[in-house]
Amino acid sequence: MAIPKALYSLAILVLLFVVASSQTLCNPECKAKEPFNCDNVLTFNRSGFAKNFTFGAATSAYQIEGAAYRALNGWDYYTHRYPEKVPDRSSADLACDSYHLYKEDVALLVKLKAQAYRFSIAWSRVLPKGRLSGGIDENGISYYNNLINELVKNGIEPYVTIFHWDMPQTLEDEYKGFLDKRIVEDFTNYAELLFQRFGDRVKFWITLNQPYSLATKGYGDGSYPPGRCTGCEFGGNSATEPYIVAHNQLLAHATTVALYRERYKKSQGGKIGTTLIGRWFVPLNETSEADKAASKRAFDFIVGWFLDPLVYGDYPEIMKKMLGDRLPTFEPKESALVKGSLDFLGLNYYVTHYTADASISIPPIPSVATDPRITLTYYRGTDPIGVVAPSFVYYPPGFRMILNHIRVNYGNPLTYITENGVADPGNGNLPIGEALADTKRIQNHCSHLSCLKCAIADGSKVAGYFAWSLMDNYEFGNGYTLRFGMNWVNFTNPSDRRQKDSGKCQTVCNPECKAKEPFNCDDVLTFNRSGFAKNFTFGAATSAYQIEGAAYRALNGWDYYTHRYPEKVPDRSSADLACDSYHLYKEDVALLVKLKAQAYRFSIAWSRVLPKGRLSGGIDENGISYYNNLINELVKNGIEPYVTIFHWDMPQTLEDEYKGFLDKRIVEDFTNYAELLFQRFGDRVKFWITLNQPYSLATKGYGDGSYPPGRCTGCEFGGNSATEPYIVAHNQLLAHATTVALYRERYKKSQGGKIGTTLIGRWFVPLNETSEADKAASKRAFDFIVGWFLDPLVYGDYPEIMKKMLGDRLPTFEPKESALVKGSLDFLGLNYYVTHYTADASISIPPIPSVATDPRITLTYYRGTDPIGVVAPSFVYYPPGFRMILNHIRVNYGNPLTYITENGVADPGNGNLPIGEALADTKRIQNHCSHLSCLKCAIADGSKVAGYFAWSLMDNYEFGNGYTLRFGMNWVNFTNPSDRRQKDSGKWYSTFITK
Ligand SMILES: *[C@@H]1O[C@H](CO)[C@@H](O)[C@H](O)[C@H]1NC(C)=O
Ligand SMILES: *[C@@H]1O[C@H](CO)[C@@H](O)[C@H](O)[C@H]1NC(C)=O
Repeated sequence: MAIPKALYSLAILVLLFVVASSQTLCNPECKAKEPFNCDNVLTFNRSGFAKNFTFGAATSAYQIEGAAYRALNGWDYYTHRYPEKVPDRSSADLACDSYHLYKEDVALLVKLKAQAYRFSIAWSRVLPKGRLSGGIDENGISYYNNLINELVKNGIEPYVTIFHWDMPQTLEDEYKGFLDKRIVEDFTNYAELLFQRFGDRVKFWITLNQPYSLATKGYGDGSYPPGRCTGCEFGGNSATEPYIVAHNQLLAHATTVALYRERYKKSQGGKIGTTLIGRWFVPLNETSEADKAASKRAFDFIVGWFLDPLVYGDYPEIMKKMLGDRLPTFEPKESALVKGSLDFLGLNYYVTHYTADASISIPPIPSVATDPRITLTYYRGTDPIGVVAPSFVYYPPGFRMILNHIRVNYGNPLTYITENGVADPGNGNLPIGEALADTKRIQNHCSHLSCLKCAIADGSKVAGYFAWSLMDNYEFGNGYTLRFGMNWVNFTNPSDRRQKDSGKCQTVCNPECKAKEPFNCDDVLTFNRSGFAKNFTFGAATSAYQIEGAAYRALNGWDYYTHRYPEKVPDRSSADLACDSYHLYKEDVALLVKLKAQAYRFSIAWSRVLPKGRLSGGIDENGISYYNNLINELVKNGIEPYVTIFHWDMPQTLEDEYKGFLDKRIVEDFTNYAELLFQRFGDRVKFWITLNQPYSLATKGYGDGSYPPGRCTGCEFGGNSATEPYIVAHNQLLAHATTVALYRERYKKSQGGKIGTTLIGRWFVPLNETSEADKAASKRAFDFIVGWFLDPLVYGDYPEIMKKMLGDRLPTFEPKESALVKGSLDFLGLNYYVTHYTADASISIPPIPSVATDPRITLTYYRGTDPIGVVAPSFVYYPPGFRMILNHIRVNYGNPLTYITENGVADPGNGNLPIGEALADTKRIQNHCSHLSCLKCAIADGSKVAGYFAWSLMDNYEFGNGYTLRFGMNWVNFTNPSDRRQKDSGKWYSTFITK
């Protein structure tokens, strides 16, 4: 495509993002006034197009092949002769090295799931002297035969551009290429050679690419080879030559089409057309007749210049009138030849311009640039017409407008969109991580496809779409400073190619619940909240210690532990301030509103409402007010509170007095604390979660000492890793069950709420799937990690395997306790993050027993060097495991009503990730989207899941990891926590929820 030199300003981009959000987009319903944002087309995918609609990707020879074994062409000569005309002084001598790497090119297309590939043939590769008399280079012919065969073998339809601006230098030297009518014969002969050699497999021929650009840049301003213009070094005449070159291109095209139709079309059964640049023009002043006429003139001079002859056999009247004898005329035979010489129209659409009349200023020297008497701009005042991108501003609705204009005024030709896309800045300006996370490119293609769909609904006969480009390549006139690819290319080692996010097209648990591999959200573009029941709840979660800060709250175990053992947290931090939600709860709710969350799971800080941990120590009414205010703010905004009663933050008084959950006295204190909450908040809170992940408190607080109270065998303050974790688990279960019984007895009926608890849900896959020992180990892992709690809650007792292996280290439930615990769930809360490969470790009996080794299992994320799923900071996630654990629970635990109370993924924390990258969290979108996809499958399988809470509403203090991991859909500045910014995942989630 032809574009001005790149002007890239991050500041402008950021600013314009806001502006762009208020612009309109063709949504799939073709009505829209919506943001230019692909999030709005989540419902939108190829199923919105006809079955025989073709999706492909495009390149051209000079931009990708490299010069190896190819005779000199105009671009070789020009880039070496005038390096200063390309911003990075580069040539395409190597480019993507597709001469050697054509199989890799096809592999990229396969990975892209492209149905078609538009590429061009390098004239001087097959005819080194430009004409048949100079000899055919059979090596060049073989190259294209190999490429075409590789495409056909992979079921990819070749669309071949015969000429994409790379004139053999011999013809340039001899008669100045398209400036001379002799080109018509040479071009036709060249094309015929291609029909003869490749026409058995190539069924779509494009004679020329954008003849407008060659005429105006090669002969108008000299910015493309042959670099001719009025005043240019090698001569030229910008007032006449562009029109001659355009004329000869049209004649070469038409003669070739006539030849193809006469000699090849019938036997080969192909189609032939040409590709024009398609720009649309909107009057700068929409009430000004002069600007309206200028817009019409712009179309006629830029598109009509070629399209009028092709459809009607002559140039637009306005061009004839304004240019006089500078415009060549078609003889009657030529006119007849050109008229109708399109089996299809190829259209490259990138931009729409505001157009103003410039009739008043008559330039002293005429030129193709000023002949239309128009001024083109992307801005109305300071408002851009659309989305500001590097090198241009794009406006998807213009795509629909030009297609409608062509439909109405040019007989609705069969049309292929042969290019459409957007650039990123090139080498040196964009780190590879950002280059690969090209969310903006996804939005560009998706919004244009949305408008294309509208144009088709309006009646346009469009049959295919080719993304520009398959891969980053040499961008004519801009060298390597712009990257248009769906695949990234390392131009110093072009076999190093990597698929960008825009190119990904893969499935996981897809909405149809059939797919196995890999995890990517792109396949769930059809997928949003409408795939879930109307009463399914989407929310976000946090917990008190992680966000509130310590202000006005009595000491708890985490306060004590983080200050006493700073070395146990990698950044030696505590949550004394965290997100300062104590002061900023209204801002927290504002984030939820922006997220369109229907529910908020938060926890109450026990020592904020009961500073001494028990009623006898007094109630802190200030703390009660804080939660009343928060709950009221939620209710006011229509957000349902889901309250966790205990999220690991034990009042230090109870820790000091009897070691918290290690002592049975906790049961009474916990129940009293919970009852206070029911009394004070139960009128508005209808979902209560007694405990968060009792497994973690037991194993980390009392097993390895990595959480408060930091107890373990050999730990500073004592402990016994072989017994205490089981006691703590037992007391947590009893505290939970006693609380549930109390709620059911005294509050449930009047308040009408539900009460449950939240377990960590991990799934386990045998490391060796044919090993009986590993299979048993996987079952054991589930029983020791999930069943430990879920079995008592559902069946009233621990799993048999635990009882057998642990003996009297495992507490027993008295019959009354068993009855109390059994069935003490109105719903199950499940936090799912990971699935492990699990191997048997029965052979090595450790000398000192510990909760860590008791299950005799080895957990890993890797089978050899292959990760089980997507490698993320701090863990590897595997969405299908989500479906598997839900199915396991459904089948083995009576299919309880379930809420997914946490699910998410972390980015690295402070200092490791620039804010720009932190906000562009495409990977988090993929994490949530792929899990939601698998969740949908699990629901389709029969699981009774009624809600999903993203962990987390915002970045916060990640227990044990301090601020080194960020799980939020909103970014938080931890030195100034009122500075919060929505990440892309938050934008995505809000769109997902509202669809
Ligand atoms: C696609 O299919 C439709 C409906 O069968 C047909 O009318 C149309 O001509 C086909 N388009 C192409 C390009 O084959
Ligand atoms: C737009 O054009 C109309 C009609 O010529 C004129 O009255 C008006 O002032 C113009 N607006 C601007 C902003 O120039």
